[in-house]
Amino acid sequence: MNQPAFDPYTIRKDFPILSRRINDTLLVYLDSAATSQKPSRVLEAHAAFYRTSNANVHRAIHQLGEEATEAYEGSRVILASFIGAPDPNCCLFTRNTTEGLNLVANAWGRTHLGPGDEIVLTEMEHHSNIVPWQLVAREMGAVIRYVPITEEGRLDLDVLADLLGNRTRIVGVAHASNVLGTINPISEIARMAHDVGAIVVVDGAQSVPHMPVDVTALGADFLAFSSHKMCGPTGAGVLWGQRELLEEMPPFMGGGDMIDRVTKEGTTFAKLPYKFEAGTPDVAEVVAMGVAAEYLSDLGLDNIHAYETELVDYALDAIGTLAGVKIHGPRNGRASLVSFSLERVHPHDLSEFLNQDSIAVRAGHHCTHILHDVLGVPATTRASFAFYNTREEIDLLIASCRKALDFFG
Ligand code: ALA
Repeated sequence: MNQPAFDPYTIRKDFPILSRRINDTLLVYLDSAATSQKPSRVLEAHAAFYRTSNANVHRAIHQLGEEATEAYEGSRVILASFIGAPDPNCCLFTRNTTEGLNLVANAWGRTHLGPGDEIVLTEMEHHSNIVPWQLVAREMGAVIRYVPITEEGRLDLDVLADLLGNRTRIVGVAHASNVLGTINPISEIARMAHDVGAIVVVDGAQSVPHMPVDVTALGADFLAFSSHKMCGPTGAGVLWGQRELLEEMPPFMGGGDMIDRVTKEGTTFAKLPYKFEAGTPDVAEVVAMGVAAEYLSDLGLDNIHAYETELVDYALDAIGTLAGVKIHGPRNGRASLVSFSLERVHPHDLSEFLNQDSIAVRAGHHCTHILHDVLGVPATTRASFAFYNTREEIDLLIASCRKALDFFG
């Protein structure tokens, strides 16, 4: 292994929870795709906001109100720069990726979709990029098509080319699959979709925390991601969108702070981004999300991606040695997670067994029923990694899996 640009053992000291012992054994946390752990810098920023500057935003001209607004809007500038967005006002704060995708499905979908229009999704989408579209499609009479995956676990772009046509309005695709780990070629997909006049919505939940993501280079129209998977707190997320699209979309939710003027006859709406941020936002969470983005930027997303790629390679080799194992997803070009099935051990039994050794993985369908139907298994076991994980932890995972194989015979 090349010398990483940072020392994971030093980095681990930033994360208090990683020194936790369970059953007198040091925690091995391999579930960062579900939610990442948080460094002290983020935890302190969150607490500091409540200790020193807590107030509502955009409403008060008292000192605390101004500090809170400055911190909240400062975070928008940090997050915009984090994803290469030239205009911070095109970054809307949401609660999470799911809310961002629902916002697009409702605000854009309800105004642009009609009977017979087509929405193209993929078989590897998370439910958060399927169910909102199914809801809006049913209401508008639109039809959903699914891009299949190849044996290797990549999108079949030839079929995508066939599916795209003059009825296609939108293409929804994950940047990185939360089960297969596949990193999808978004700029190529965006080009194909734009050629038929469709727009592209990207679920960036599993990519933005792990690799450099630049919305200009991606060429998509919307990108949604979550704070809690990128070392920030739960309850915050970002939806970035192209300005022209956001400007002509109606609001998703109505309430305070998103209006220009309300009369008995009706309402005119505030400018971007406020039109889409009704009610009191998760101010402390948004502020701490900005600190998380700075923390990741300080480590370097290139460095994080390079380190995690080596780690996942190591994990693929090691998991591949287990008896009766099937690893789902491609060997290369992967996000830092591995989903696998053992012939002789059910994923839930395995996950419970690993938990006794203080190893946290996720077992189940990972909110991807359609993908699991395609894979032909009801559930898989998923080990997902972050830059604070080490090869030793993967060795412990393998040793515990071997014990499980002996135990379940
Ligand atoms: N979407 C998260 C996962 O895949 C929760 O685990």
